[in-house]
Amino acid sequence: MSEFVLELSALTRRFGAFTAVDALSLSVRTGEVFGLLGANGAGKTTTIKMLTTLLPPSAGEALVAGYSITRQAVEVRRSIGYVPQAVSVDGSLTGYETPAHLCPTV
Ligand SMILES: Nc1ncnc2c1ncn2[C@@H]1O[C@H](COP(=O)(O)OP(=O)(O)OP(=O)(O)O)[C@@H](O)[C@H]1O
Ligand SMILES: [Mg+2]
Repeated sequence: MSEFVLELSALTRRFGAFTAVDALSLSVRTGEVFGLLGANGAGKTTTIKMLTTLLPPSAGEALVAGYSITRQAVEVRRSIGYVPQAVSVDGSLTGYETPAHLCPTV
């Protein structure tokens, strides 16, 4: 397994003239617990949408589990689980069971 589970390189998302995520670069080590904190409208959800391949970036790149979000979306989705809000959590499922439940396109 590679050293980093997440590698973001100048990841950027614009909505028209507005830049919601501005050249975000960071790395998260495999096994590390990482929290992305920010004020309302800081761009957290937009960042997660790009990392889960639900929204294409305007510029930049990111690797999730070593897979490119722009070129290997299927592999990225197979590698992740995503629970967008607490109301979406099904308490009867384990974390490992949740991905297939919430990713019908995979
Ligand atoms: N589809 C969209 N079209 C235009 N602007 C958008 C769109 N999605 C998000 N934005 C804008 O991008 C900025 C970042 O939004 P985002 O939802 O990523 O923030 P957030 O950090 O998740 O905020 P919150 O803490 O309120 O959930 C905000 O100014 C938001 O209005
Ligand atoms: Mg949000």
